[in-house]
Amino acid sequence: MDEFHTGGHAATRELAGHLELRAGLRVLDVGSGLGGPARHLAQHAGADVTGVDLTEEYVDVARWLTDRVGLTGQARFQQGDVTTLPFPRASFDRAWMLHVGMNIEDKARLFTEISRVLTDEGLFIVYDVMLLGDPALVRSAGAAIRADCRAWFAQAEEHVRRRRGDVLIEAAPGSVQEFLDSALPYAADGYPVELVVLAVREADSRLATALRYARALQIGGTGRFTSRSGHDTCFNALADIVAAAERHPQIAAITVIRKDGQALLRHESTSPGQASWALAAERLRPYTEQEAIAFLRLHQALRRALPRHRAELDEIAALARPLMPPGVQPARIDRPHPPVWPLPIPRDAAVNGRGGIGYGIGDNGVLITYNGVLLDTDVLYEAARRVHTAIRSVLDPIAAQDPHGHEPAIDLLAVH
Ligand SMILES: C[S@@+](CC[C@H](N)C(=O)[O-])C[C@H]1O[C@@H](n2cnc3c(N)ncnc32)[C@H](O)[C@@H]1O
Repeated sequence: MDEFHTGGHAATRELAGHLELRAGLRVLDVGSGLGGPARHLAQHAGADVTGVDLTEEYVDVARWLTDRVGLTGQARFQQGDVTTLPFPRASFDRAWMLHVGMNIEDKARLFTEISRVLTDEGLFIVYDVMLLGDPALVRSAGAAIRADCRAWFAQAEEHVRRRRGDVLIEAAPGSVQEFLDSALPYAADGYPVELVVLAVREADSRLATALRYARALQIGGTGRFTSRSGHDTCFNALADIVAAAERHPQIAAITVIRKDGQALLRHESTSPGQASWALAAERLRPYTEQEAIAFLRLHQALRRALPRHRAELDEIAALARPLMPPGVQPARIDRPHPPVWPLPIPRDAAVNGRGGIGYGIGDNGVLITYNGVLLDTDVLYEAARRVHTAIRSVLDPIAAQDPHGHEPAIDLLAVH
């Protein structure tokens, strides 16, 4: 935990090897967190390390841990913002920054400061998560760092297996192979392997990814809203994983549970197909009125919290609608009942035999005619304004009475 970056201690060791350290060199740890990397440099290279971190509590813990391992003379920590470093020019021979730059918007200022406090021959190492070009990369960052994470987890799991510890792995594998790669080493070491599957509807599952994202933003993190394709890969793979696990001789049992924790089924190789069936049935189970209301409330709250993602949230709600009871479906207008408003269309327009409203696409855009008379834009604008007012006069009272706060839907608009 005191090495808070992808790859943990293994990454610290590897990077330290590139710092060309000698005893006594002055090293700055930019955004030092709980101080693990700084202590490593102090202990193994005899360097004189200074860590700076914005978070007061991290600095306190870093000092305390350093004191406990007897390195206080060689690794010191202070609170500060690394975009305004409290050191004179050329104070350090080396600097490194591990997973910190990603939190700092003003990168030019950050790097200018680091360059200022380093000597001219100084060396600086950056190990960070970077966004190159396409903002959509942020949403697929999970896929980009997955290989790294998996390698790190594999190491940690092997460590636990060697000590015969019990293991509970929470994962969303993207394929049957990914699941088997994680599960079978345990079976090979004589562990009974059980699969516990959480069965939720697609819309609930996607809404939960939005909720996790909103919560991450709420506590000040940057967060990442799982992309639809990322979600769907894991969601679809789960059915294949359950089917494969049911037939696999080294998977001892499968338990399918619901979102509320209730177990739907425990399968122990006697009845293949049942776990797959339970998963599929739960995914398609109609919402109770209570569940539907809870879903719609959360959907509304997330629409408010994540205004830039409204289209995607509405797409998620549309997935849920067909499974919801009639009582919570959006209010509909049974028949057109706005009062008929006279439109400012010339009553004495010559009827040219074809009648009605027509349109044509000309060089200057769309031309609209009424009974063969070209309508000028002021008339159209006024017509549109009156139609809009008429629609709102019907929809607003409906929306005000709707206990679930739905936006009313308009299926068909007839203008007389
Ligand atoms: C992911 S942690 C990495 C900590 C440490 N480098 C490590 O690898 O264990 C990011 C750290 O950056 C610090 N941080 C973020 N913005 C900062 C800033 N402007 N100045 C100093 N530290 C900052 C946070 O407080 C946090 O400790």
